[in-house]
Amino acid sequence: MVLSRSGKRSAIQCLVQSLCVFLNFDILNIFGVQAEPNLQGINTNLGDALQFLREFDSEASRLCFTVGTSQWTYATNMTDFNKRRMVEEQTIKAKFERITWNKASSFDWSRITDPMARRHLKLLLIGKRGGLPDEKYNEIYHLISEMKDIYSNVRVCPFDDNYTNNRIYCDIDLEGVSKIMEKSRNPLELAYIWKEWHDKAGPPMKNKFMRYIELANQAAKINGFQDAGEEMRYAYEDRNFEDEISESFQRLQPLYKELFTYVRKKLFKRYGPSVVRLEGPLPAHILGNIWAQEWSHIEEIVTPYPDIKTIDVTHEMRRQGFTPLRMFQMSEEFFTSLGLKPMPPEFWKDSMIEKPVNRKVQCSASAWDFCNRIDYRIKQCTEVGMQDLISTHHEMAHIQYYLYYAKQPYLYRNGANEGFHEGVSNAISLSVYNPTHLHLVGLFNNDTIDYETNIKFLFGMALKKVAYASFAYLVDLWRYEIFRNGVSNMNSDWWELRTKFQGIVPPITRNEQHLDPATKRHIAADIPYMKYYVALLLEFQIFDALCTAAGHTGSLHNCDIYRSREAGRLLSDALSLGKSKHWKEVLRLLTRGKTDKISADAMIKYFQPLYIWLKVQNKNEKIVGWITKQEDAALFQPLVSSNSNQNLTADNYIINIIIVYSLLPIFRK
Ligand SMILES: *[C@@H]1O[C@H](CO)[C@@H](O)[C@H](O)[C@H]1NC(C)=O
Ligand SMILES: *[C@@H]1O[C@H](CO)[C@@H](O)[C@H](O)[C@H]1NC(C)=O
Ligand SMILES: [Zn+2]
Repeated sequence: MVLSRSGKRSAIQCLVQSLCVFLNFDILNIFGVQAEPNLQGINTNLGDALQFLREFDSEASRLCFTVGTSQWTYATNMTDFNKRRMVEEQTIKAKFERITWNKASSFDWSRITDPMARRHLKLLLIGKRGGLPDEKYNEIYHLISEMKDIYSNVRVCPFDDNYTNNRIYCDIDLEGVSKIMEKSRNPLELAYIWKEWHDKAGPPMKNKFMRYIELANQAAKINGFQDAGEEMRYAYEDRNFEDEISESFQRLQPLYKELFTYVRKKLFKRYGPSVVRLEGPLPAHILGNIWAQEWSHIEEIVTPYPDIKTIDVTHEMRRQGFTPLRMFQMSEEFFTSLGLKPMPPEFWKDSMIEKPVNRKVQCSASAWDFCNRIDYRIKQCTEVGMQDLISTHHEMAHIQYYLYYAKQPYLYRNGANEGFHEGVSNAISLSVYNPTHLHLVGLFNNDTIDYETNIKFLFGMALKKVAYASFAYLVDLWRYEIFRNGVSNMNSDWWELRTKFQGIVPPITRNEQHLDPATKRHIAADIPYMKYYVALLLEFQIFDALCTAAGHTGSLHNCDIYRSREAGRLLSDALSLGKSKHWKEVLRLLTRGKTDKISADAMIKYFQPLYIWLKVQNKNEKIVGWITKQEDAALFQPLVSSNSNQNLTADNYIINIIIVYSLLPIFRK
C-alpha cells in the first residue's frame, strides 16, 4: 500500500516536471517517424488522458512488482507450485495490458496537446496487437506459446558411428546440442547434430508460424502500419532507421570479410577440401555454434598464435582466494570508482549470487528491477573465474541503469531504445575484460603484453563480436521480408540472406518443409532481434565516448574507464534519462554532440590493429570474402530439393542415419 502510494506521488511529480522539460515540442516528431499509427479514438480531453496515464503508471508499477516477485520466486526455486503462481500473476498482467490497450485507444492521441501524454499513449498502443478481436488475440498468443513449447521440448539423438539404434537415449536438449557444437571436432558428428536440431525444431512449427505471420500483420494493419515488420521498426521512432543500420553494416563488411577469409583458411587446414571449399562460403556446422552466430568456441583451431596464452585471470583469482561475494564487491567498487551508485542494502540482502544446494534454480545470469524503486537484484550462479567476473560487472551495469532512471515514470524506465541496456552493459564489460584493467586490479601482470598478445586478444574479441554482427543484422531482415512479402519460400529466403551477408551455407540440403530460422528462439518466441545488432554497435560507440571522456589515448581496446569521474558523470547523465528522450538525443549527449547516428565507426576503430594485421595475412588470398556457386544455392533452392525431404524422427532413426551419411558427399564440396 505504502509503496504504491509513494509510487503514484512521484509519477505525478514526473508528469508535471516533464511538462516543463518538454514545453511544446513532440519528441516523436523531431526525428520524424515512418508512419503515424492511425487509431480511431475520439476522446481529446487532456484531463482524462492524464488521469488515465496516472492510474496506468501506478497499476503497471504495482503489477510489475507482483509479477516480478512471482517470477523471481520461481526462477530461484523451481517448484510446480511456484510456477503455477507465476503463471497466475502473468495472466493477470496480460488482462491488464489488454484493458489498457482498450482504454488508450479510446483517445485521439494526435489531438492530445501534452507531448508526453501523447508519447505515452503511443507507447501503450504500438506493438501490442490489442486491436485484434478477442478470438484472434487469444489465437496469436496461443500460437506463440505453442511454438515456444515445441522449441523447448526438442530432444535430439546422440551421434553414433556404429549405426546402432540409440533412440532410447534421444534426450539431448538445446544445452547439450550447444555443448556438442562447441566441443566436437568430428565433422560427421557436427553435421549430424546440426541436422537433428534443425529437422526437429523447425518443421513442427511451420503451419503455426504462417498463421502467426498472418495474424501479426492483421494487428499491425489495424494500428495503421503496412505490415508487422514496419510496426517492429517503429520501436526506434526513426524514419531513417533501416538506412542507418544498413549503412553501418556495409561499413563493417571489409573487416568481416578479412576475418572470414582468415578463419576459412584455418578451417580448411583442419578439415580439408571435403568440408571446406577455398574461396567458397563456410558450412554452418563447423563454427562452434549451432547457428554459426559467433565463433569463439573454435578459437583454438583458428587463433593466430596458438602458443601465446589467452588472457585468463581465473587461476589468479582462485590463487587469491576470491569468492562470489568478493567478485560482487569488486564490481560495485568499479562503479563507485566512477562516482556511480553503490548497490542498495536490499540488493545485498535479496540477490542470489551463488547456486543454492538444496533446490533447483535457473542459473542464467540476470538483473532485476522490481519497479518499486526499492528492490533491485542479480541472480547468478557465480563461479569464481574471469567469465563470471565480467558477467557480474555486466549485470551490475544493468542495475545502475535501473537505479538512475528510477525517478522516471513507468514507461520511461527503460533503455533509450531496445539496444541501449545491452549496449551500456557490454561497454562496461569492454573496460573490464581488458589487460589494462585486470592489471590495475591486481589480477594480471601486463609487463609481458606485446604486439602478438594484443592481436591474439583482438582476434578472440572479433570471433565474438565481428562474426556476430552479420548474424545479428540478418535475423530481422529476414523477418521484415516475410512480414512484407509473405511466406512462400521462407526457408530459401533465409539461406539466401545467410549466404549473402554471412557467407554461411547449410551443411545439408534444405527445403521448404524446413523452417530453419525458427530454430533460433527469438523467431519462434516472437522476440525482436535487431536490438542485438543495435546493441553491438552501441556497445562500441558508448565505450569510445566514455574513453574520450576519461581522457584515454592510444588503442581503444586498451582503454579502461576505471576511476574516471568524468566518464562516470557522462554515463549517469545518459542513464538518468531512461527512455524519456529520443535515443538520438541520448546518443548525442553521450558523444558530446559528435553524432546521433548508430554507426560502426567505433567498432572499426576498436578492431583497427587487427584489421591491418588480417590484411597482411590475407594478402596472398585470391578472394577475400566468398564466391558462391550453383552448388551452394542448390543446397536450399525451394524447387530442386523439394522431394529430397528427410524428416528425422525417432521412428525412422536407422533409415535416416544412413541417409545422413549418404548426404554427406553433397556438402563435401
Ligand atoms: C521453495 O518453494 C516451496 C513452495 O513450492 C516452499 O515450500 C519452499 O520453502 C521454498 N524453498 C525455499 C528455500 O525458499
Ligand atoms: C562402436 O563400436 C566399437 C567397436 O565395436 C566400440 O568400441 C564403440 O564403443 C562403439 N561406439 C558406440 C558409440 O557404441
Ligand atoms: Zn545484459
